[in-house]
Amino acid sequence: MASSLHGKTVVVGVCGGIAAYKAAHVVRGLRAAGATVHVIPTPSSLEFVGRATWEALSGNPVHTGVFEAVDSVAHVNLGKQADLVLVAPATADFLARHRQGRCEDMLSAALLVATCPVAMFPAMHTEMWQHPATVENVSVLRQRGVLLPDPDSGRLTGADTGPGRLSDPEAIVAFARAAISAKPRDLAGKRILISAGGTREALDPVRFIGNHSSGKQGFALANAAAVRGAEVTLVAANVSLPTPCGVRRIDVTSAAELAAAVQRESARHDAVVMAAAVADFAPAGAAASKIKKTPGEDAFTLNLQTTQDVLRTLVTERGQETSPFIVGFAAETGDAEKDALTFAREKARRKGADLLVANDVSRGVFGSDNNRVHILDAAGELLVSGEGSKESVSHLLLDRVSEIMNNG
Ligand SMILES: Cc1cc2nc3c(=O)[nH]c(=O)nc-3n(C[C@H](O)[C@H](O)[C@H](O)COP(=O)(O)O)c2cc1C
Repeated sequence: MASSLHGKTVVVGVCGGIAAYKAAHVVRGLRAAGATVHVIPTPSSLEFVGRATWEALSGNPVHTGVFEAVDSVAHVNLGKQADLVLVAPATADFLARHRQGRCEDMLSAALLVATCPVAMFPAMHTEMWQHPATVENVSVLRQRGVLLPDPDSGRLTGADTGPGRLSDPEAIVAFARAAISAKPRDLAGKRILISAGGTREALDPVRFIGNHSSGKQGFALANAAAVRGAEVTLVAANVSLPTPCGVRRIDVTSAAELAAAVQRESARHDAVVMAAAVADFAPAGAAASKIKKTPGEDAFTLNLQTTQDVLRTLVTERGQETSPFIVGFAAETGDAEKDALTFAREKARRKGADLLVANDVSRGVFGSDNNRVHILDAAGELLVSGEGSKESVSHLLLDRVSEIMNNG
């Protein structure tokens, strides 16, 4: 399936911060997804990464000042041609300049011409990010419709750590993919809790029982919800993917840890989407040391206990007034008597979630970039079916969630 970036023109603005070198991976990722890329570095950013890098990686000429390429009026043309402008990294100074509508350099000028979606990925020291001037600039730009996810938290220049680190380049490309086709910010003001990945139940210090879930669907959902304006918390069970831009991540390992995180967080969220594959059974207790083979015995019996049904607990324990909207995911396979959809209808009625997304895993969904889903209501009625990239399936589900949450 063609990426949503295929054939699109993306303008990548690069500002003068240490993280400017990471924009090289963003440009590569966008081109690999089929986009035409024009890089506009600010004059300061050329102190960090030179023009030749951007020309070679983008395959297009690079200008930084408004008095360059005057014959083609480059700042107007680039702004008009763009299907998406993204600025990575966006410095504190650049956010301040753009808030004021200044246009003394090519990037600022092109941005004032652009009418397409604009996304900015800040990177700076924590003190700069938390300074009241930056906080106010960010707030004004967001109100104007700029997609401006919070930076990651982590290692900054030198030994410092804290919020202000540039989002992962792979996550920036995923954000761009969703932003180019996203609905307006229809989930702004909504807090959404999403679980993703597959739990691991320890047998002993070296072994576990797990499942094939890669977390791709849950991460795609978190990314799509963030692009659509939601404040997203992601409970990730054993997922090696980069954190989607602007998303708060809580890593867990076992079903019990996942249940505890979801229960702790659910009350402060407007919706909970349980996309993780949570173990139904776990060993009664993990052995303190590695379980040894017994010479002469050709079998080993495991004693498994049923784990807590997190979705069911959420449904039964929800209060009348503070109840979050609840979406369950069910991986189903058919058998000789019933198909996957029939099992899903029965599960939807049994679980009582507001929506149940059934994915037919008999055709190899785990680890794939595509998915095939049926979305059912609490009565087991089929609302919509869809097949496509995990990103497009995310939007299909979020369309329903947004419709119901915004219109009741
Ligand atoms: C070594 C060094 C690293 C810098 N890193 C950052 C940074 O990560 N974020 C930031 O906002 N400014 C950073 N600055 C300050 C900006 O380079 C400076 O504000 C500049 O005017 C930004 O210009 P621009 O926004 O036009 O690219 C750094 C400066 C230096 C010398």
